[in-house]
Amino acid sequence: MRQPMDEVVPRIWLCGVRNWLTTDAVTKVIFTTSWDLLTSTANRCVTETFKTVVRQTGVVHNWPHLAYHEVTALLCLPHLAWSLVALENYSVAVMSSSKAERVKKYSTKDVFGYFSNVKDPDTGELILRPQDVRRNAANFIIAGSDTTASSVAATFFYLSHDPTAYAKVAQEVRSAFESASTIKAGPILNNCVCLRAAINEALRMAPAAPQPLWREAEAGGCVVDGDLIQASLNVGAGIFSLQHNVDAFPDPYKYDIERWIIDPRKGEVKEKERIKEMSRSWAPFFVGSR
Ligand code: HEM
Repeated sequence: MRQPMDEVVPRIWLCGVRNWLTTDAVTKVIFTTSWDLLTSTANRCVTETFKTVVRQTGVVHNWPHLAYHEVTALLCLPHLAWSLVALENYSVAVMSSSKAERVKKYSTKDVFGYFSNVKDPDTGELILRPQDVRRNAANFIIAGSDTTASSVAATFFYLSHDPTAYAKVAQEVRSAFESASTIKAGPILNNCVCLRAAINEALRMAPAAPQPLWREAEAGGCVVDGDLIQASLNVGAGIFSLQHNVDAFPDPYKYDIERWIIDPRKGEVKEKERIKEMSRSWAPFFVGSR
């Protein structure tokens, strides 16, 4: 069925807005400066570049040999060539304006300032070469903006299709805070269990990184689920499959915020144990220290 344009256009616009919003926020945190995508049209194509790079990364993750054969990769994925150059240019631009901020205000502290000035304690020399700083800058922008944008979009998408969950979350947030302008990070927000459940469930159903994140077995190999994996072999579990495992998440394709909320009728201790066990299969940020 064709949708009327007045419904389609705001949706397309909203898709852009969430990317602009999170890219502005993430670049501010990391570089103190931003492209002001929300208020200026000048650099909005930056988010298109990110989207292309993320798609290509998804392909290369599942076809890792491409990464070692640049010519084949560029032939198979011609978009890769221009998007990598564009990404490089965007990273250089944001780094220069971040440096300019530091000249204006010496006390400016941000993530970029820290990692570009890390020195070897023995020699006093900078650890990261300029090209490493550039690559890390690009990684940070993409790692932070696209993931957050997709997760925000997924949460709104599922909530807008589930009036009961939406009403529960809205009621909780509206009774916790007096007005929209008083909403801020802290204990009150952390106590919004329905909101947290809505976000967890969206991250479960639509993980921003759904693919397997391969890990190489170290010397001596490792045992996974009773099977010996020999050293130097790669192993990985797709996050999407893990988070749709029916044993851990009954009715896994249903957006159900209740699975994350303690049901007092079933006993608090038992419910806490159930959620703890279920959380072992929830890994949108993957597992371990990273
Ligand atoms: C909902 C939001 C996010 C999701 C779902 C997400 C997910 C992930 C995942 C799955 C990884 C791979 C971890 C691994 O290989 O073990 C990762 C790595 C990373 N993320 Fe995020 N992320 C999010 C937000 C952010 C933000 C806001 C930033 C920075 C401002 C960020 C920066 C990074 C960096 C730098 C890495 C690489 C870490 C490393 O290789 O050591 N991420 N993220």
